[in-house]
Amino acid sequence: MLIQPIREMTIATRKMAKGDFSYFIPNKRKDELGQLTNSFNEMTRDLGHLEEMRHEFVTNVSHEIQSPLTSIRGFAKALREGIITDPEEQKQTLDIIEQESTRLSQLGKHLLQLAELESEQPAHQPRPYALDEQIRRVVNALEPHWREKGHKLEIRLPARLALKGDEQQLEQVWINFLMNAIRYTPPGGQITVTGKAEEQEILIRITDNGIGLSEEDLPHIFERFYKADKSRARQDGGNGLGLAITRRIVLLHGGTIAADSTLGSGTTFTIRLPR
Ligand SMILES: Nc1ncnc2c1ncn2[C@@H]1O[C@H](COP(=O)(O)OP(=O)(O)O)[C@@H](O)[C@H]1O
Ligand SMILES: [Mg+2]
Repeated sequence: MLIQPIREMTIATRKMAKGDFSYFIPNKRKDELGQLTNSFNEMTRDLGHLEEMRHEFVTNVSHEIQSPLTSIRGFAKALREGIITDPEEQKQTLDIIEQESTRLSQLGKHLLQLAELESEQPAHQPRPYALDEQIRRVVNALEPHWREKGHKLEIRLPARLALKGDEQQLEQVWINFLMNAIRYTPPGGQITVTGKAEEQEILIRITDNGIGLSEEDLPHIFERFYKADKSRARQDGGNGLGLAITRRIVLLHGGTIAADSTLGSGTTFTIRLPR
C-alpha cells in the first residue's frame, strides 16, 4: 500500500527524464502520500505543458525564418536566371529581397529582446522623465508612416506628464502600439493618443478606427507570434512579437494594458503606469 505510489512515481520520473510527460498516477488516498501523488501529477502536467510551449515556439520561429528565406531564394534565382527582364520589375524584386532581409533581422532583434525581457533579471533602468515629450517625439518620428497612409494623428496630452520609467523600453511600447494602429487601419484613418495623470498612475490611451479585432482574436493578441490575420500580417512584415514584448515591458513597470476592440470599427488600448 505504501510502496505502490512511490514505485509509480519512480516510473513516472524515469519517463519524464526521457521527455514523456503523459504518465498519470491514479490516486484515491487522502493522506500525505496521496497529497504528494496529486502534486506529482500536477507537476507532470505543468512540465508537459511547458514542453508543448517550447515545441510550439521552435516551430513558430522556424516558420518565421523559413518563409522570408524561401522568398529571398526564389527571387534571387529568378534574377540570376534572367527570368525577370523588365528593369522596373527587377527593381521591385530587389525591393522585396531587401524587405524580407529586414524582416529577418527584425525577427532576430525581437527574439533577443523577448529573451532578455523574459530572463530572470531583465535590464530595467527607471528614471523620471517627461512622457508627453517622448510621445510627441515618437509620433513625429513615425510621421512618414502615417502620412504615407493618409492617417490623421491627434495627440491630446497635458503639458507636463512626468513619469518614472525606463525611457528606452517605454519608447518601444509607444512605437509598437502606434505602428500597429497605423498598420491595421485602412488609409485615411484616425489615430488618437490621449493621456492623463491620476493620483497614482498615468493613463495613456491609443485609439484607431481601423479593422478591429474579433472577440475570438482579442484575448490572444499578446501571445508570442499571434496574428489575427495571417495573410495581412505577412504582407506587411509583422512577426507577431510586438505586443508580447510590449506587454512584458508594461508588466516590468508594474502597469497594465487593457484592449478593447470591435471588428470593423476600431481598437483602443489603455495603458496604466504607476507614476
Ligand atoms: N490596432 C490594432 N488593430 C487591429 N488589430 C491589431 C491592432 N494591434 C494589433 N492587432 C492584431 O494583433 C496581432 C499581434 O500584434 P503584434 O504582436 O504587434 O504583431 P504584428 O507583428 O503582427 O504587428 C496583429 O497581428 C494584429 O492581428
Ligand atoms: Mg506589431
